[in-house]
Amino acid sequence: MPLAHRHRGTDPNPFVVTSRRYCLPNFDWDYRNFVCFWRHMQLKTHFGLVSQIRGTDSARLSTINDPHTSRRKISSCHQNQGIWDIFRRAPFGSYALVLRAGEVSAPQSVPAHIECPPHAVTGEPQPGPAEPEMKAAWQIKAMREACTFAAQIQAAVGCSIKAGMTTDDIDVLVHRCSVEGGGYPSPLNYLGFPKSVCTSVNNVACHGIPDDRVLVDGDIVSVDVTVYYKGHHGDCCETYMVGEVDAVGQHLVHAARRCRDDAIAICGPGVPFTAIGCKVEDVAEQEKVTVVPCFVGHGIGYYFHGPPDIYHSYNDYPGMMEPGMTFTIEPIVAQGRPDVTILEDGWTAVMNDNGRAAQFEHTVLITEDGHEILTQLPGS
Ligand code: MF3
Ligand code: CO
Ligand code: CO
Repeated sequence: MPLAHRHRGTDPNPFVVTSRRYCLPNFDWDYRNFVCFWRHMQLKTHFGLVSQIRGTDSARLSTINDPHTSRRKISSCHQNQGIWDIFRRAPFGSYALVLRAGEVSAPQSVPAHIECPPHAVTGEPQPGPAEPEMKAAWQIKAMREACTFAAQIQAAVGCSIKAGMTTDDIDVLVHRCSVEGGGYPSPLNYLGFPKSVCTSVNNVACHGIPDDRVLVDGDIVSVDVTVYYKGHHGDCCETYMVGEVDAVGQHLVHAARRCRDDAIAICGPGVPFTAIGCKVEDVAEQEKVTVVPCFVGHGIGYYFHGPPDIYHSYNDYPGMMEPGMTFTIEPIVAQGRPDVTILEDGWTAVMNDNGRAAQFEHTVLITEDGHEILTQLPGS
């Protein structure tokens, strides 16, 4: 999903890029002083608290291995962060925080007979049309096929997700399904993205790069599958629960799916694009979760991302839906604050408050009398 720009509503700019791999969240919460106090205490009682946590909850603490910084310093900083998170994220539930990008294996290769989009070679996105396009029947047919294919790959992921596999294993699966079915996994080399799918665990909002991180019981993981087939892209995302997810995590996932599905339900000819953001905000408010406004849905076709921009928050984007348009709806919703940071890998977007985020996406076609969900398999 592209970054939002001009048309966002009243939200303060939530988007921060940092060169720091480890960012301590910006504390502008009321209990800032409380947190500072805790940090002070942790520095004093560091070792006792660490061993206590190791003893009780070691599986839920990530390891630190950053060659760029003094190991000792980072390790202490990280562990302190972990310790105060026990207190700070209490309302966010219990889960393993992702604090660093892992080891990313080499990109996978694509057999020569697969039809590739231009970015497969250049890394540069194929520009879309200047305005939202109304697709002709032959284009709609190709979109249906690409989107059904994406949904089938997504279903295969859904069947295989389990604790103990790595996000790299998900990448291997998505890549293999894509090329075996004669498609190209669209993320691969898109603006240099190094893998074939995006996998975003717990506090990662989106664009997580598959790596050696092992999925553990209690994780939620968004898997965003896009495939290029018959000259068109099909794009869909699901958030999966690994094993036993705590109640607030389950609620987040349920709320995120509802945000997408209720927004899709209002789509049809003559409906303004702005209605989507209103609906998503509405549902998010009812469910007491937060929309992450800085990522938008998009028009899609022979291009991966093109007009219209689909805001999931209040906005003033012009125009309305017309028959033949295809676009995605892909709200990210979070437990806490809406602002994110991009890690040094240039992709991974993490929640600044370390709360979890969940995302669901479908590619939708506007028809004469409503809409068709192109990335939904019959009977699901
Ligand atoms: N699939 C994402 C979307 O919904 C885009 C991912 S771009 C990538 O728009 F390069 F990270 F793959
Ligand atoms: Co998308
Ligand atoms: Co997507």
